[in-house]
Amino acid sequence: MPEFTKSVGFIGAGRMATALARGCVESGLMTVGQLISADPSLDARHAFADQVAGVAVFDTNEPILARADIIVLAIKPQVMPDVLADIGNQVTEQQLVVSIAAGVTLKKLAKALPTDSRLIRVMPNTPCLVGEGASCFSRGSSATDEDAEDIRLVLESVGRVFEVAENQLDAVTGLSGSGPAFVYKMIEALAQGGTQMGLPEELALELASQTAKGAAQMVLTTGLSPAALREQVTSPGGTTVAGLEALAKLEGAEAFREAVVAATKRSQELGES
Ligand SMILES: NC(=O)c1ccc[n+]([C@@H]2O[C@H](COP(=O)([O-])OP(=O)(O)OC[C@H]3O[C@@H](n4cnc5c(N)ncnc54)[C@H](OP(=O)(O)O)[C@@H]3O)[C@@H](O)[C@H]2O)c1
Repeated sequence: MPEFTKSVGFIGAGRMATALARGCVESGLMTVGQLISADPSLDARHAFADQVAGVAVFDTNEPILARADIIVLAIKPQVMPDVLADIGNQVTEQQLVVSIAAGVTLKKLAKALPTDSRLIRVMPNTPCLVGEGASCFSRGSSATDEDAEDIRLVLESVGRVFEVAENQLDAVTGLSGSGPAFVYKMIEALAQGGTQMGLPEELALELASQTAKGAAQMVLTTGLSPAALREQVTSPGGTTVAGLEALAKLEGAEAFREAVVAATKRSQELGES
């Protein structure tokens, strides 16, 4: 584990901030003393303190601005303009500002913060909450290689992380951001097939979920393509081919591709508004 000596302050101590902070501590990347968070909601502060024992939690953002080397804006996009107006003139050039808010561009962040602020925009996804996230980030023009490496380490504590150009973040939103919902739909449908053919609901859901997890793990660990892995389990005249034929008849695979395309287009529209 590389030595990470910087302090990280979360503005917004909601679900995402809690998951990231817990990941950083549980992975051994940081100690609780390096973390700090702020949130106006008492419930959020209590939940954060429960999940990350011993961490300092405040009800205003000033302590974050005063103490953190890395400021993570973990708030909803709707409150971003107010928070940026509030903190804009207090951010210093020693601090890296990271936003995880969906749809808030580097340009919007730069406009509200001092000239040449070091900025990174992140698109995480909900499986970060269970340490299996897929996150992508893009850096602003003043962010350094060290900044990128720091945020990579933080995000790696809750899953996998990739750096992309900012113009790819809408597609990332359509694929890994919205993707968990598409996979839930697939798991639900697989389980329904199981119950329709006589399995108890609970067992069908567990089998469907573990099958999705196992198949994903096969793709990630064998280095084989999904097509090659599919071929390995498909024998002529067998059960899998019968299932795949039914899937093809209903254009099931194309429907998933279209879901990613539609979600990406919606992300592009939202970014323009
Ligand atoms: N959850 C995900 O999987 C996911 C995935 C991708 C991106 N994101 C992005 O991550 C961000 C955080 O999501 P989340 O699910 O963690 O949201 P969340 O649980 O609602 O957390 C946001 C917290 O910020 C607090 N807050 C509101 N105004 C504030 C202010 N002025 N200063 C400090 N804190 C303030 C909120 O308090 P109140 O509730 O009182 O308003 C809330 O506790 C969002 O922008 C979202 O787009 C989340």
